[in-house]
Amino acid sequence: MRKISSSILSADFYKLGEEIEDALKAGVDWIHVDVMDGHFVPPITYGDKIVADIKKNNRKVFCDVHLMITDPGDHIMFFIDAGADLINFQSEACVHGDRFINLIKENNKMAGITINPTTPISFIRHYLPIVDLVLVMSVNPGYGGQDCIPYTFDKVKELKKIKEENNYNFMIEIDGGIFIDNVEKALEAGVDVVVTGSSFFLGNEKEKKELVDVIHNYK
Ligand code: DX5
Ligand code: ZN
Repeated sequence: MRKISSSILSADFYKLGEEIEDALKAGVDWIHVDVMDGHFVPPITYGDKIVADIKKNNRKVFCDVHLMITDPGDHIMFFIDAGADLINFQSEACVHGDRFINLIKENNKMAGITINPTTPISFIRHYLPIVDLVLVMSVNPGYGGQDCIPYTFDKVKELKKIKEENNYNFMIEIDGGIFIDNVEKALEAGVDVVVTGSSFFLGNEKEKKELVDVIHNYK
């Protein structure tokens, strides 16, 4: 079954716990935690403590951490200690990615590599046999509520083809600008996990349910 990972970037931080519990009740599989440092991307969001607090209150929440930060290697261990389940870092932000993937996996966490819309798949070719997930950005990272860049669906198709030809095991996740009107196109392209920020947290109950159902019921 395809998964939905909802980004708390679009949640109301004043009532974050409540928002997360409601998302889980609505059927969300993972909670997507967008970490921004004001350097790799302009905004600053939150760090490892938010993961530790989520886990302290509900161990069952699967924390899908997306690091949009410079020098991710300086921070990965903090997120591991906080209890993150999956750690994605931006391929463009580091020079020792292979080492970081190994560090994450040695600590029994899922390891993901992320590519920006304009980063070619060839740039992460050597990650593909060793990662658990590839996150394809369908917007330029940094902000919720942007329009999806359509050519990124072709990158998903290309990745899926490489995965099948080589019998790789990674999941494919898409992130940014996914709404009810384009989610099926993303699923058709081959994504296993769909990140939904504003389309989920800013939607009403009916819209949330519709998104969850479309993703879970896609064959
Ligand atoms: C963007 C973030 C996304 C963002 C998605 O830099 O990585 O996870 O929260 O938000 P929407 O779904 O609103 O585009
Ligand atoms: Zn993200």
